[in-house]
Parts: sequence; C-alpha cells; structure tokens
Amino acid sequence: MEKRIALLPGDGIGREVVPQAVKVLKALERYGLRCLFTEAPIGGAGVDAADDPLPPATLDLAKASDAVLLGAVGAPKYEHLPRSKRPGLGLLKLRKALDLYANLRPAKLFPELIGASPLKAERVEGLDLIIVRELTGDIYFGEPRGISGEEGTREGVNTMRYTEREIRRVAHFAFRLARGRRKKVLSIDKANVLETMVLWRQIVTETGKSYPEIALSHQYVDAAAMELIRGPRDLDVVVTGNMFGDILSDEAAMLTGSLGMLPSASLGDDEPGLYEPVHGSAPDIAGQDKANPIAAILSAALMLDHGFGRPDLSSRVEQAVRRVLAANLRTADIAEPGTRIVGCDEMGSAIAAAI
Ligand code: IPM
Ligand code: MG
Repeated sequence: MEKRIALLPGDGIGREVVPQAVKVLKALERYGLRCLFTEAPIGGAGVDAADDPLPPATLDLAKASDAVLLGAVGAPKYEHLPRSKRPGLGLLKLRKALDLYANLRPAKLFPELIGASPLKAERVEGLDLIIVRELTGDIYFGEPRGISGEEGTREGVNTMRYTEREIRRVAHFAFRLARGRRKKVLSIDKANVLETMVLWRQIVTETGKSYPEIALSHQYVDAAAMELIRGPRDLDVVVTGNMFGDILSDEAAMLTGSLGMLPSASLGDDEPGLYEPVHGSAPDIAGQDKANPIAAILSAALMLDHGFGRPDLSSRVEQAVRRVLAANLRTADIAEPGTRIVGCDEMGSAIAAAI
C-alpha cells in the first residue's frame, strides 16, 4: 500500500517528535506500507517561511495527501503578533478547511505506566476512554468575535454557536464509534446555563434514538471534570463540544501519566484526516531532545487504523511502544525510579527497532 503523507512538524517539539513517527512508519515498510513524505511549514514556521500560519502551499499539499501528520504549533516569539499571524490560527484554519469535525482523543493507560499516573493505581487501572471533541464549531469559530472600543472601556466578545447539523454529525460519529467498543456514550454540555448546550443535549438525545444498543448519558462539564478524576475507568466514549473537549482532553491525558502520551485523530467525511499529538509545542523543553515522541508515534498508529484501514499495523506500533516501555526506557516526563531516561531521538529509534 502506497500513501502520500503531508508532514507538518510546526514549531517547538513538533519538529522533534514528527521525525520519530516517520522512523516508525518507515520501519513498517517490511509489512507492505510505503509512505511518500512531503514536508511543509505551519504555525510559527509558516509565519517565518511565508508570513502566514497556514501558507496556501501547505493547505494545497494537505488537500492532495492521503493523511496529514502534524507536530505542534506555537512559540513565545509569535505571541505578540496580531491574531491573523498567530501560530494556533494555522491549525484552526487547517481543521476547518478540511472539515475535520470529529477529533478523537483516546486516553488509554499502558499497564507499564501505571506508576506514572498522578492517580492511585486502582482508579486508573484498565483506563480506556475516548473523547470525541467537535472540532469545527463552537466558541472557537462563532461570530461575532473580537475586541472593540477604546482602551479602558474595551469589550471582548466570542460567540458559542452550534447548528443542529454540526451537533448531529459528531453525535453520529460518537455513537458509531461506541458500537465497536463498550457501547456507552457520555455527552458533556452545560445545558443548565447555555442555550447552545440545551440544543446540544436535545440533538444528541434525538440522534441516540437511532442507536438503541448504546447507553447514552449526559453530564454538565463541571461535574464531568470531577468524574474524570473520580471514576475515569467507567467512561467509554465521551462526546462534547470544541471548547469543553479542549479542556477535558488535557485532563484525560494526564490520567495516562503524561500529556506526552496522548495521540489524536481529526476526521471528517472525506480524506485526508489529520493526526497530531494532543500536547503543544512545549517551548520550555524545545530543542533539547527531551520531548516524549510517543503521542506522535501513537498518532501515526491512529492514522494507520482510521486513515488507512490497517488496524494490524496500528497494533504493531502499539505493541512496539509497550515493548520499549516494558524494557524500562522512559523520556523524562514519564520517568520513575528504576527506569532509564532517554531522549526523544533514542526513544523513537527504540520504538522503530521494536516494530
Ligand atoms: C489543541 C490545542 C489547540 C486547540 C490550539 C493550539 C489552537 O490546544 O489541539 O488542543 O485549542 O484546539
Ligand atoms: Mg488543547
């Protein structure tokens, strides 16, 4: 199988972790996968190269590819720029342009890392949940938006907005996903306060009627934040809006030991999908070979499964990660007494060798 993959390393540790995922994909060549990689800048790298966080050539490349593998965007040196030049906008525009409305963020605990989780072992043992975050709507994209007025009396405005169609399609996505799992969907909203979320709950409930085999429940986002700590093992598929999903997925990631472990897949009705680690560009450790490449490598595994229909190759990657962890290799973020700390590059090579 031959696949064209757009590599968008972006900024900071994105530039370190993406090459590790590439090593692992290359190691899969012996199983009949051939990837043709083309690299392009996004985020701050896009601003540097073309004065645009999503240069048109990068978007064209992404559209012409079978899948997009992204690192991370953002660095302090771009923070003073106007919104149109902010690195994060490049990522938001790419998601929107490819209509990637369903963002899958699985939080699965590797038994080898049970000691790295900040929660007690009995609370996280066997943890296997997946957040389906709506990715192209909500307060992230709602209009009107902006800051207006004179200094001293200015006003900032953003708009939480969802259409029935946007809610329905991501709800369908979550229910379909739950069919192949433990058949539970938890929908998270804030219907006690926000009309947008009243509509969210109505449409999710209505959509759920087509899936009688799936147990649907609802929770307000504040209670859900607590539940993620109190009893995360009970959760299976969690579906929520763009902003709540952004927040809760970082929280869920931490349950697995480190934000450096959580991969994601952003999918729409057509190809290509976008695969990226949930972690950011981590300017504090960028350029020091300290980053954990596992989230990026597991993002490539999601690409093999969801993008290329090769769960066999995807589980080979997961097994390789587990073998390396079982051999006690750790990046600094997941280190424990008795383990050997390695850099990003060595971790990537070890996982590629374990394929
Ligand atoms: C994420 C990130 C992005 C988001 C930023 C970088 C725009 O936090 O993918 O979770 O908020 O969606
Ligand atoms: Mg985030």
